[in-house]
Amino acid sequence: MTEMKPVTEATTVKAPVLPDAQTVTDVKHWTDSLFSFKVSRPASLRFRSGEFVMIGLLGDNGKPLLRAYSIASPSWDEELEFYSIKVQDGPLTSKLQHIKPGDQIILRPKPVGTLVHDALLPGKRLWFFATGTGFAPFASLLREPQTYEDYDEVIITHTCREVAELEYGRQLIEDIRQDEMLAELIGEGFADKIRYYPTTTREESPKMGRITNLLNDGTVFADLGIEGGIKPETDRAMVCGSLAFNLDIKEILEGFGLREGANSEPKEFVIEKAFVG
Ligand SMILES: Cc1cc2nc3c(=O)[nH]c(=O)nc-3n(C[C@H](O)[C@H](O)[C@H](O)COP(=O)(O)OP(=O)(O)OC[C@H]3O[C@@H](n4cnc5c(N)ncnc54)[C@H](O)[C@@H]3O)c2cc1C
Ligand SMILES: NC(=O)c1ccc[n+]([C@@H]2O[C@H](COP(=O)([O-])OP(=O)(O)OC[C@H]3O[C@@H](n4cnc5c(N)ncnc54)[C@H](OP(=O)(O)O)[C@@H]3O)[C@@H](O)[C@H]2O)c1
Repeated sequence: MTEMKPVTEATTVKAPVLPDAQTVTDVKHWTDSLFSFKVSRPASLRFRSGEFVMIGLLGDNGKPLLRAYSIASPSWDEELEFYSIKVQDGPLTSKLQHIKPGDQIILRPKPVGTLVHDALLPGKRLWFFATGTGFAPFASLLREPQTYEDYDEVIITHTCREVAELEYGRQLIEDIRQDEMLAELIGEGFADKIRYYPTTTREESPKMGRITNLLNDGTVFADLGIEGGIKPETDRAMVCGSLAFNLDIKEILEGFGLREGANSEPKEFVIEKAFVG
């Protein structure tokens, strides 16, 4: 067995070593602060679309430096995809942003999380509310057959500061709409159920504003032709953003009469932090 060496600015480890090491197969940079990458999937890893795992690199001290990451790929995929921020002085992402195909990362194969279908009661319309990299779990769930088996309509809102930060999600949804393999797997016309609602807050775009404000003033419902707003009888929601965002959306959903659920107690909406701090 070869030894895994600490990652430095210039070098990343090439040889497989730790039991939890996986190989990077693809890296795509979307902006100065966002990138996505794919890694090999451990044969034994089973997860539910929407869950997260701990991933990372060996730190300079030789110890694993791990962070929580939503798996952005669906549960049936052969590879694992992640969508990541680049925090310039972030202990992990200041290094992770330099990975290249052939490099190795550590992936602890213990998926967990609340953004899963099991944590919601049956409904007709499913809302995904994301800001920034909070889109990642929904990139998984948007490619999960159960999403379309369980719901008639799937609304994904994504709010970012700038237009370029929407691009990963925009392209993913465009690809889903044209993916013949997915249509075969999920059923012809499944993508017609997706309604994509991107908004920006600090750069001009067709729809400006925080989604919270657009929900509160009714703009979202007017734009999407939804009468009577969100209803506890039919509507279910999953939320992933900053702590402040999650709290604000929670208040709005509770105002509509929805209750927060969990794996052990499914209800009408579930929430997960996209990051801490
Ligand atoms: C359940 C869960 C799931 C997560 N999933 C993802 C994911 O899919 N993709 C991802 O990029 N990150 C995700 N994160 C955040 C991730 O765990 C790390 O915080 C991130 O990779 C930065 O690590 P770092 O060591 O470079 O900096 P850290 O020391 O971890 O963070 C430094 C600061 O950077 C900011 N920050 C960290 N992560 C983000 C982010 N994603 N978006 C905006 N600002 C951020 C915060 O202000 C934070 O205090 C998740 C966190 C949790 C709790
Ligand atoms: N993305 C960047 O260009 C950038 C640049 C410099 C520093 N940073 C730092 O990186 C971290 C994360 O930045 P981020 O842009 O990815 O995440 P973020 O600050 O959580 O913002 C993402 C999007 O969510 C919106 N938002 C934030 N809080 C909300 C709330 N309570 N209700 C409704 N909408 C809300 C933001 O709108 P608003 O614009 O109205 O806040 C923005 O459009 C922050 O600590 C930030 O200081 C980011």
